[in-house]
Amino acid sequence: MPVYLDHAATTPVLPEAIEAYTSALTRVGNPASIHSAGQDAKRLLEDAREQVAATLGCQGIEVVFTSGGTEAINAAVKGLYWARRKAGATRVLVPEGEHHATLDTVEWLAASEEAEVEWLPLDDRGFLRLDALEAALTREPASIALLTFLWANNEVGTIQPAQRIIALAAAAGVPVHLDAVSAYGHLPIDFAALRAATGSTGRAGLAALSVSAHKIGGPIGAGALVLSRDAVIVPLLHGGGQQRQVRSGTQDVAAAAAFAVAAAAAEADRAAESARLTVLRDRVIDGVRRLVPDAVLNGPEPPRAAPGEPGDARLATNAHFTFSGCEGDSLLFLLDAAGVEVSTGSACQAGIPEPSHVLRAMGRTEDEARGALRITLGRTSSEADVDAFLAALPAAYAQASKAGLATQESAFGLRA
Ligand SMILES: Cc1ncc(COP(=O)(O)O)c(C=O)c1O
Repeated sequence: MPVYLDHAATTPVLPEAIEAYTSALTRVGNPASIHSAGQDAKRLLEDAREQVAATLGCQGIEVVFTSGGTEAINAAVKGLYWARRKAGATRVLVPEGEHHATLDTVEWLAASEEAEVEWLPLDDRGFLRLDALEAALTREPASIALLTFLWANNEVGTIQPAQRIIALAAAAGVPVHLDAVSAYGHLPIDFAALRAATGSTGRAGLAALSVSAHKIGGPIGAGALVLSRDAVIVPLLHGGGQQRQVRSGTQDVAAAAAFAVAAAAAEADRAAESARLTVLRDRVIDGVRRLVPDAVLNGPEPPRAAPGEPGDARLATNAHFTFSGCEGDSLLFLLDAAGVEVSTGSACQAGIPEPSHVLRAMGRTEDEARGALRITLGRTSSEADVDAFLAALPAAYAQASKAGLATQESAFGLRA
């Protein structure tokens, strides 16, 4: 069995979630139907909604089931934008280094819907520059349609000070969407408490939050948009008016049931798993540094005095390095051949590896950004997995460095 260390891409589906999914699939009934089969389906669906809501600190009615994180983000960002544009607000504030679900959505709004996108810079550890945010919020706040940002960066693991950021937006009267896809299951998420602590009221401050089931042991193709009862959005999908008219379409009861089981399991173990994974993460970090002293850790340095405590601004599941003189993809292929599955963390466009836009936003050169490797842990990860990765790394690194050197030599005409 290969060693799987790419939990940020997706996670193994929990057996209990598979059981809930397949059991629900054997039942007939559209939850919108009045007859008994329909009402049974509705009960299962609404129980799932309540269970998911309990893991997010919101009311059941605020949970809008979607086909995943990408759809939730599209619905929130486009929906808030369209609603605010009616009042003449067209500026969209967004940090650099967001997930493509956000990047491509706001770029589409700029290209097709008259949005003016303002990219907010990151510092060299991946934190949003709060001075830049404050400056953007000060300039004509009424012209800002929304702020959207990523709570925990899926590539480099940086955890943003979400409460601080939302409070600044709330004070300026700006609605906020929070991409919590990579935070879910790892950080405590309490939508109502976060709204209260940030002075979010009515339509200012935290309005919407996106999560995805497959990052926490649920099925791919399920997710949720948490939408405050006060928030006003224009829906992305029109049709039967299900889910508060926000997301029309017959609801996927089986996906919701499986999602709810995974969410409850993730929440039940969250604190213990965080502590366990923090120790494993630091074993990865220490091991890589011992084996390849030139490797550079991207994102925040873990606080060794109190692993996993407040102040640890790095996801417990994430170790992300750049290896100079190597292509991250070469390392990835060599490790895969040795039975260890990791990632470079960045997207491939049409099969061609792209240097990470997150690392570029953090000030790394294009060459540095190419040598990236992301190791991400999850519920099934063990010390043996970490040690298998560390055992395979030196040979993969030596070979990838040789290939990197050969490429450089041929680029500079040193070889035929
Ligand atoms: C931070 C973040 N946002 C959004 C998404 C998209 O979620 P989904 O895969 O459910 O569409 C992902 C998935 O990789 C992610 O990591």
